[in-house]
Amino acid sequence: MSTSLNRIATGVHTSLSHESANGHVTGSAIYLDDMPLPSGALHAAVLLSPHAHARIKSIDVTKAEKAPGVIAVVTAQDIPGHNDIGPIGKNEPILAPGLVEYAGQIVAAVAARTLDQARAAVKLIEVEYEVLPAILDLAEAVENKLLVANEIHIERGAVDDTLAAATHRLNGEARCGGQDHFYLEGQIAIAVPGEGIDMQVYSSTQHPTEVQHGVAHLLGVPYSQITCEVRRMGGAFGGKESQATIIAGIAAVLAHHCRKPVKLRLPRDVDMLATGKRHDFLFRYDVGFDGEGRILALDLLLAANGGSVMDLTPPVLSRALCHADNCYYLPVVRLHGMPCKTNTVSNTAFRGFGGPQGMLAIENVIDEIARHLGVGVDEVRRSNFYGVGERDVTPYGQVVHDNIIAEVMAELDAAKNLADWRADIDAFNETSPVIKKGLATMPIKFGISFNKPELNQAGSLIHVYVDGSVHLNHGGTEMGQGLYTKVAQVVAETFQIDLDMVRVTATSTGKVPNTSPTAASSGSDLNGMAALNAATIIKERMTKVAAKHFDVPAKDIVFADNRIHAGNRSISFKELAEMSWQQREQLSAAGYYKTPGISWDFKTNSGTPFYYYAYGAAASEVAVDMLTGETRVLRTEIVHDAGKSLNPAIDLGQIEGAFVQGMGWLTCEELVWDKEGRLRTHGPSTYKIPGSRDVPKVLNVRLLDQPNRKPTIFRSKAIGEPPFMLAISVWLAIRDAISSLSGHRLAARLDAPATNEKVLAAAEDMKARLAGTA
Ligand code: MTE
Ligand code: HPA
Repeated sequence: MSTSLNRIATGVHTSLSHESANGHVTGSAIYLDDMPLPSGALHAAVLLSPHAHARIKSIDVTKAEKAPGVIAVVTAQDIPGHNDIGPIGKNEPILAPGLVEYAGQIVAAVAARTLDQARAAVKLIEVEYEVLPAILDLAEAVENKLLVANEIHIERGAVDDTLAAATHRLNGEARCGGQDHFYLEGQIAIAVPGEGIDMQVYSSTQHPTEVQHGVAHLLGVPYSQITCEVRRMGGAFGGKESQATIIAGIAAVLAHHCRKPVKLRLPRDVDMLATGKRHDFLFRYDVGFDGEGRILALDLLLAANGGSVMDLTPPVLSRALCHADNCYYLPVVRLHGMPCKTNTVSNTAFRGFGGPQGMLAIENVIDEIARHLGVGVDEVRRSNFYGVGERDVTPYGQVVHDNIIAEVMAELDAAKNLADWRADIDAFNETSPVIKKGLATMPIKFGISFNKPELNQAGSLIHVYVDGSVHLNHGGTEMGQGLYTKVAQVVAETFQIDLDMVRVTATSTGKVPNTSPTAASSGSDLNGMAALNAATIIKERMTKVAAKHFDVPAKDIVFADNRIHAGNRSISFKELAEMSWQQREQLSAAGYYKTPGISWDFKTNSGTPFYYYAYGAAASEVAVDMLTGETRVLRTEIVHDAGKSLNPAIDLGQIEGAFVQGMGWLTCEELVWDKEGRLRTHGPSTYKIPGSRDVPKVLNVRLLDQPNRKPTIFRSKAIGEPPFMLAISVWLAIRDAISSLSGHRLAARLDAPATNEKVLAAAEDMKARLAGTA
């Protein structure tokens, strides 16, 4: 009988649609802004500093307080507890406490009966500032060693001596820009005061526990008084990992003062001005290599623009350092990270979390080496790939046991022959004087796990009801990435029941406590395992009941097809649930998981921070107009390693989305500040994210479809962030097109983002270098 049992069709490794797909499309999925508000609820608005650095001499709120509908106006001094929500460091205020450190910092907040009244009243707050000198440029912060945290250093071997002895040596500097998260749903929170000092906070956050802690600190109450809940976010991308706590905190402080529910939703411009972004970086490198392009020694400075406060800059920088090797063995290496302080908005988590910046730095070096030697970039890559023996140890001491990059590159070549592709492009360029094409590949290796080992744990809570329906809760949050769907598939698979019998419920600190942020791509790895654990506990209890019922040993009980089988007899899952209740078996369990075998020493910046690596490779073909600097991505081929995918449809969507978002970072998304440190690109009219026509005309994505060598949840691999970095192929292809002007002898001087202006400037620079006038 057991061989003929059908596995459930809605379990793991199946392409199922997102659990809220219909709701997303029809508009019935409820986001915080759609939630019916409790009666008497108030609306909030915030006042931003116009100055990048200034002392607040006085704040006069009297006119605002008297404005129609206003119930409360709060400033830093009205915070009953501690004005600090720093996720790692201290002194990270939600309302400026006498000093503003960036233009856009929130100074005061108003709660009023209507949103219009709140926004009108904000304009009546009078603030007197004493403007102070501001540091706005990252290079200036580097020169003056202005830091938000300690520097990070990783070193192996005799760097200076090896550099001095190398046959070839190059040095240079490069920069990459930041990026706004541009989530469709902006930052939003609703705080509802309860009995006594209780507070229920609905927040669009990736980190409900941090909101709970932040609000408790601000109000000066124990964590147990605050419950944070989130059903779904309309996108987050890292921008709601720490930043959401600022918004929730302000709503909570206002709710505390008014004793009424308060909703705070930032308009897009305010959201972009007030909240953190991806870190822009400055790189300086000195590299020594042999005639084949094999790197002998690398000395690399990675300076991150942390902005005004620490926030998550240390782990972002740490991840950047741990990805500055990408897929390459660096035998002798010095990686130096500077977490710089400037008077700009505090930068924060963003998909890849420093990984993209680290990889960009090394790819720039590889590109320079190849042009210098006059050999193919992919040849230089191959000479430097991690290998076996001593060539498999990263600069931070982790052994790369699972290296499959050569295989991934071979799959990419099989998808479209790279030599033929290159020949086609060269042939095109020979007869096309203005439009030049470029081609580049990008291999990636991305470490999966939080660098901080204690974050790599998760909990879940599952109830089976007597009608056989299942209530599933876990600590992960849903931001569109499909986590709820994947974890529900895990539970459906475990019980062998249809997915529609599993109801995923809103993430709440009241159901699963002490959670980690849903970040580092680890949502399904951690929460999937915790849910598997809880479901397995209940399944074992139900198996005992079934074994007794059928009078067979427990090993003969099989869950399949929504039924429980013993030989050719069976009962439904519902019948067994009811029977288990009658026999007083507990049908509820809390599950738990912690990632094994990881370690990190913060003093030496070494260890095994990653449980495993996710790999991938992309090849992109671009066309560049050398007279206008306009670029188009004509074709991209991707092979990506999602392990044994839990849900191939969702994973393909994640790869496409991440790739296009990465293209945005590297091509059209440019943050521009003026001389006073005011962000001038704070809305869609000035900040250009990729549109549907920017998506490569041909975009072919293949999953490698190999089980993870590590026993992860059903042998899948994390997918959320790694494919973002495949977009570096586009930036490299644009450089390749510009380099073609020199017959590929010279590397293009092109930073990121490669906007039309920058591409044109790089093309002109190349022409001037060729003419000897540069
Ligand atoms: N996909 C969508 N649709 N929306 C998002 O906000 N965030 C990304 C990625 N994919 C995001 C997304 C980021 S930054 C991360 S870290 C992962 O999803 C987090 O979810 P996971 O760990 O469940 O993959
Ligand atoms: N990505 C990667 N690593 C992380 C993150 C993230 O968003 N948050 C903390 N560590």
